[in-house]
This record gives sequence, structure tokens and C-alpha cells, in this order.
Amino acid sequence: MNTRNRRDAPVAIIGGSGFIGSNLADSLLSDGEPVLVIDNLSRPGVEQNLEWLAQKHGGRLTVE
Ligand SMILES: NC(=O)c1ccc[n+]([C@@H]2O[C@H](COP(=O)([O-])OP(=O)(O)OC[C@H]3O[C@@H](n4cnc5c(N)ncnc54)[C@H](O)[C@@H]3O)[C@@H](O)[C@H]2O)c1
Repeated sequence: MNTRNRRDAPVAIIGGSGFIGSNLADSLLSDGEPVLVIDNLSRPGVEQNLEWLAQKHGGRLTVE
């Protein structure tokens, strides 16, 4: 059981569309934390990671 306090403010992950960031986002979102991904999409193909996160977690994910 997760005993951490859930916050109202999202966890911001810069580079959250990339390999490390998207897996961190998935882990936090799976724990019920809201996540804000900030990414300039400069690495080709990372949009697919965002689509995967959005499909899996929906509303708790915000992308900037
Ligand atoms: N399947 C795999 O095992 C796999 C896949 C990819 C990468 N890797 C490894 O993971 C490591 C790299 O992962 P990572 O997550 O650090 O890199 P990444 O390139 O996957 O992610 C970096 C992210 O930062 C974003 N970004 C870059 N500059 C930015 C800026 N100025 N502002 C906002 N966003 C910005 C990019 O668009 C990208 O989404 C390497 O060791 C690589 O070999 C492994």
C-alpha cells in the first residue's frame, strides 16, 4: 500500500516525453499522483510516449 501523501499540485517532469521521463511519469501516475509533463518534443518519436501515457492515465496527466 502506498502511504505517501497525495498532493494537489502535479509533479512536473521536464523531458517527461522521453525514455526516463515517461517511465517516471507512468510510475507516479500509477501511484495516483497528478503529473505535468514539460517537453519540447525535440527528440523524434517521443510523441508516442505521450500518447501511451494519455491512453493509460487520461485526466491526471497534463502536457505543456
Ligand atoms: N528502450 C530503451 O532501453 C531505451 C530507449 C530510449 C533511451 N534509452 C536510454 O535512456 C537514456 C536517455 O534517456 P532520456 O530519457 O534521458 O532521453 P530521451 O531523449 O529519451 O528524453 C529526453 C526528453 O527531453 C526532451 N527535451 C530535450 N531538450 C528539451 C528542452 N530543452 N526542453 C524540454 N524538453 C526537452 C526530449 O524531447 C525528450 O522527450 C540513454 O541512456 C538511452 O540509451 C533506452
